This record gives sequence, structure tokens and C-alpha cells, in this order.
Amino acid sequence: MVHNGQMRAWLMDSYDGVEKLRLDEVPDPQPGPGQALLQVKLAALNPADAFLAQGMYPAKPPLPHILGRDGVGEVIAVASGVENVKVGDTVGILRCDAGVEVWGTLAEKAAIPAASLTSIPQGWSLEETAGAPLVFLTAWQALTQWTDPHAPPATGSVLLVTGASGGVGVASVLLGKSMGLVVVALSRSQEKGEKLKQLGADFVFSPDMPNLRKAIAAALFPKRIDLVVDNVAGPAFNDLIAMLGYGGRISVVGRSGGSVPEFNTATLFFRRNRIGGVAVADYTPQAAQTAWKEIVGRLDGLGRRPVTDAILPFEQVKQAFGRLTEGPMGKVLVRVAP
Ligand SMILES: NC(=O)c1ccc[n+]([C@@H]2O[C@H](COP(=O)([O-])OP(=O)(O)OC[C@H]3O[C@@H](n4cnc5c(N)ncnc54)[C@H](OP(=O)(O)O)[C@@H]3O)[C@@H](O)[C@H]2O)c1
Repeated sequence: MVHNGQMRAWLMDSYDGVEKLRLDEVPDPQPGPGQALLQVKLAALNPADAFLAQGMYPAKPPLPHILGRDGVGEVIAVASGVENVKVGDTVGILRCDAGVEVWGTLAEKAAIPAASLTSIPQGWSLEETAGAPLVFLTAWQALTQWTDPHAPPATGSVLLVTGASGGVGVASVLLGKSMGLVVVALSRSQEKGEKLKQLGADFVFSPDMPNLRKAIAAALFPKRIDLVVDNVAGPAFNDLIAMLGYGGRISVVGRSGGSVPEFNTATLFFRRNRIGGVAVADYTPQAAQTAWKEIVGRLDGLGRRPVTDAILPFEQVKQAFGRLTEGPMGKVLVRVAP
């Protein structure tokens, strides 16, 4: 079926950053075999959108590109081979190529592989659903990647989360609590630190406090840190290694704090510590569906929901990216349609 309409979209014409995005009209995307066309209602931002727009990301899609990897929308057309959704369904999007290699959700319409669509979890709002998949799937991989087959760490293990107020941070705190872990959260903001305690973090520290290592060691004694979900990297990375217990691991998710200035591999020797990258792009559509079901079940079991920091109008996408840079408390969303 051919869609002849026009849609408004935030177009990326160059790799000069999100400040250069342009709101304009383009022809509707055409759903290919196995795809559904969505009328996008809400889109969510991720730091990777801004990295991609600066050419600091592996994907280099053809221009003009449309960013946006997360969102919810109503199915308005389906192409051949689509059986799991139908016209009229309201659906969420699990991480796929949308917004990465092909046009994404910062647009009134988006063509999405049906295998990456999911229904709105029972009792969840569209806002809660729109921003959750990418960061929760990332956090799930960061928490479970160290065993084969992948499984949560043992109950009572200690998890430290850096950048805990952000999208992946909040997801890691909530999933960590669902696994019965002792959760230490780092946030530069006292206000966000209080919110992290309300979400269940057992201890909250500022990464900037003097004697951070001593303070965390004293709070945890006699335990030490078993697993770090690191969203920040930067100069503090070596302190994370120093705080690990025997066999402790670091799941490297992000780089909000920049690169690690100096790293001595000898720091890994004696306590057999391990560092491993996380790549949310590695999920197959089937694996993402399985993990997402588990994530929703765990959040429902905890009685918790994904956290929304702010919802901005479609016209204010650049301000929304600005909010992301400041350090949000949860997810930054854009309302594409009322
Ligand atoms: N590997 C993957 O597959 C994957 C998947 C998703 C995301 N990521 C990456 O993971 C990182 C976090 O993503 P996110 O969605 O959680 O981002 P986010 O929502 O923007 O949150 C990042 C958090 O890190 C802290 N932070 C930001 N800048 C900082 C700085 N310069 N120094 C110290 N702390 C800083 C802030 O917390 P406070 O203000 O509370 O300190 C902020 O809330 C990003 O780099 C993102 O690109 C990677």
C-alpha cells in the first residue's frame, strides 16, 4: 500500500549536531514488507541521537536523516507479512534500526519492523511506555551479561550505578532492586539523589564528594561492589575499579563524562576484575521481545514504572536535547501528536 501524504519531521541535513536539525515537511515513509506505519504520538530522546548527529556514532545514515529510536504510536497501515499488529493498535517500539540506519520517531509517521513492536503494558501510560524500551533493554543487558546463559546477579550482590538519574541509570536501579541487589547510586545532584532513594536505591552518593571511595566502603562494609553499571566513564573510572570486590565486574554502558585519562591494566590482576562493553544494538528482535517481557514483569512485581523527566512539544525538540545535556531525572519525551 502506498502512502501519498506529507508529514512534518525534524530533518538532520548534516553531521553538525542536533542544533542544526530543521523542522520541515517530507513525503510519508513507506512501510516495506514486514513493517507497520505508525502515527507517532510520543518520541523519546537518547544521548546516542546527539552523538549520531555529531558523527560520533558507528551508524552514518544517508541524509536527510530523522533521529528518534523510541516512541509510541498508532498503527495506520501494515505491509505484507505483518501478523502481530493491526491498524488501530497503539504500540511501543523496541530498539531497532529506526532512528539509527533509517528514519526514526522525531516525525509524525515512522515505518517500523513489526517484529520490534510491542503492545502497551497493562496499566502503563503511553508516556511510561514511550521512553522505556531502549534504556531498560540496555540496563537488562548490563546486569545480566556476565553469565552464560545470561542471568541476574545473585540476590544480595552489590550493584553500583553511575549517572543513576539518567535513563539507563534509573532503569538499572529499578531492575537491580527487582533482582534483590543492594544498590548504590551516584548522582551529582542532591535533589535527584533523594528521588533515587525513593525509587529504592539503598545508598546515594555524589561522585564529586571528597573521599568517595572511603565513604562507599564504610557504608557497604564488609561487602564490596560486585557489579558496576557505568554510564559516565571519565576520570572517575579508575575509582570504580578500585572499589570492586574479588571477581567484581564493570558493565561499560556510556561515556557522558568523557574518556578515561589513564588506565593501568594491572588494577585488574589481583581481584580478577573484568570490564565488558554493553551494546543494546546486539538484541535480535526476538531477544528484545523476551527481555522486554521480563522487564515489564519485574517492574510490575516491584510496583514501579519508568520515570519521565519532561515532556516537550514537538516544536521544542532542540530544547528537549538541551534538557538531556543538563542531566535529566528519567526520560525526556517529545509529544509529536496530541
Ligand atoms: N552501550 C549502549 O548500548 C548504550 C545504550 C544506551 C545508552 N548508552 C550511553 O549511556 C550513557 C547514559 O545514557 P542515558 O540514556 O542514561 O543518558 P542520560 O539520560 O542523559 O543520563 C546520563 C546521566 O549521567 C550523568 N552525567 C551526565 N553528564 C555527566 C558528566 N559530564 N559527568 C558525570 N555525570 C554525568 C547525569 O546524572 P547526574 O546529573 O545525576 O549526575 C545524567 O543524568 C550515554 O553516554 C549513552 O550514550 C549506551
